[in-house]
Amino acid sequence: MATYRIAWLPGDGIGNDVMEAARVVLDAVKLDAEYVRGEIGWEFWRSEGDAFPARTVELLGSVDAAMFGAITSKPVKAAEAELAPALQGKGLVYRSPIVRMRQLFDLYVCLRPCKAYPGNPLNYRETIDLVVFRENTEDLYSGVEFAPVPDALRDTLTALAKPFAPFAKLPGDAYAVSCKINTRRGCERIIREAFEYARAHGYRKVTVIHKANVVRASEGLFLEVGRQVAKDYPEIAMDDANIDAICMWLLKDPEKYGVLVATNMFGDIVSDLCAQMVGGLGFGCSGNIGEKLAVFEPTHGSAPKYAGQYKVNPIATILAAKMMLAWLGEDEKADRVEGAVAAVIAEGKVRTYDMGGSASTLDMARAIAGKL
Ligand code: NAI
Ligand code: MG
Repeated sequence: MATYRIAWLPGDGIGNDVMEAARVVLDAVKLDAEYVRGEIGWEFWRSEGDAFPARTVELLGSVDAAMFGAITSKPVKAAEAELAPALQGKGLVYRSPIVRMRQLFDLYVCLRPCKAYPGNPLNYRETIDLVVFRENTEDLYSGVEFAPVPDALRDTLTALAKPFAPFAKLPGDAYAVSCKINTRRGCERIIREAFEYARAHGYRKVTVIHKANVVRASEGLFLEVGRQVAKDYPEIAMDDANIDAICMWLLKDPEKYGVLVATNMFGDIVSDLCAQMVGGLGFGCSGNIGEKLAVFEPTHGSAPKYAGQYKVNPIATILAAKMMLAWLGEDEKADRVEGAVAAVIAEGKVRTYDMGGSASTLDMARAIAGKL
């Protein structure tokens, strides 16, 4: 029996291309794993009314880790229109499988390392080394939303919240409410993860990102918990910054930052900014990590216009595989994969189109495998 059982979820579009490339590298580094393919994505929404079928949920419950490519998502109405005729009109509502996965398996850490590998022509600066911790299950993405707004909610908000007054007279279909819910436990565990990572990897500073001056309740809680948790890590400096300000500071002085931690939506935004500074979508990798399961993926989507062309950059997915190796405790293999990626980038001979070259997805994977 193999040491590891890994769920392999290519999904849609270029998810297939980049996952094939990641396998070339994982096979070359000789990870002793059984890869079990799981079905996920648009095809299953159309044919079964579920983009994340129960059998795939079950598979994820039985593995050590998972690799996920990308999926196609469409707005609720467009999604309904594409359902197989027999499934239409049954009240099926499309929900993003990745959001469901995060909630179902309590994958509360979204870890997004953004490191500039020297020689990448897309680097904003050569010495950037940022690691974003994004809370992954709460906040504005908790799914507690109302459109139209029911009368009971309107009456409650009228009674409880003075600032609601300007909205109270609107008909329910004239506005929408999305609830931002953050728990003390949710804030604490993501912030603690960020400090633990800083300690384990030698980062000297953790920056708590928030908007506590305006979103006083939930973001205020995040900052308050951040200050408490920081006391347990006296050797690591904590600073804090508003989400808007940090976007400016990161562009101005990215080298001054190391580990960053934020609530779900701000973390989502700031991690895209950081990823762009080190090469953009072809380089952005992430881990969705819980107590029992972790799912690793490139942050890009299914890029339908390039699907099946083996044109896109697989480095994001190969770095996601590297993160998986580290999470499994295979540090030596993780380091070798990262070293091989760095070597190919530094050499600059094999580059995909986004880097100004003409190498294919699999050319890149083979070049990286060749440097192991
Ligand atoms: P996208 O990330 O799929 O692609 C946008 C553009 O970025 C592409 O057209 C391409 O020019 C470039 N790009 C993406 N990946 C690249 C790579 N590996 N190498 C080089 N260039 C790359 O975003 P888009 O077009 O907004 O969304 C397409 C579909 O993907 C939508 O259905 C969307 O909902 C879904 N999506 C899924 C995500 C996921 O599975 N986690 C994340 C983002 C979008
Ligand atoms: Mg995003």
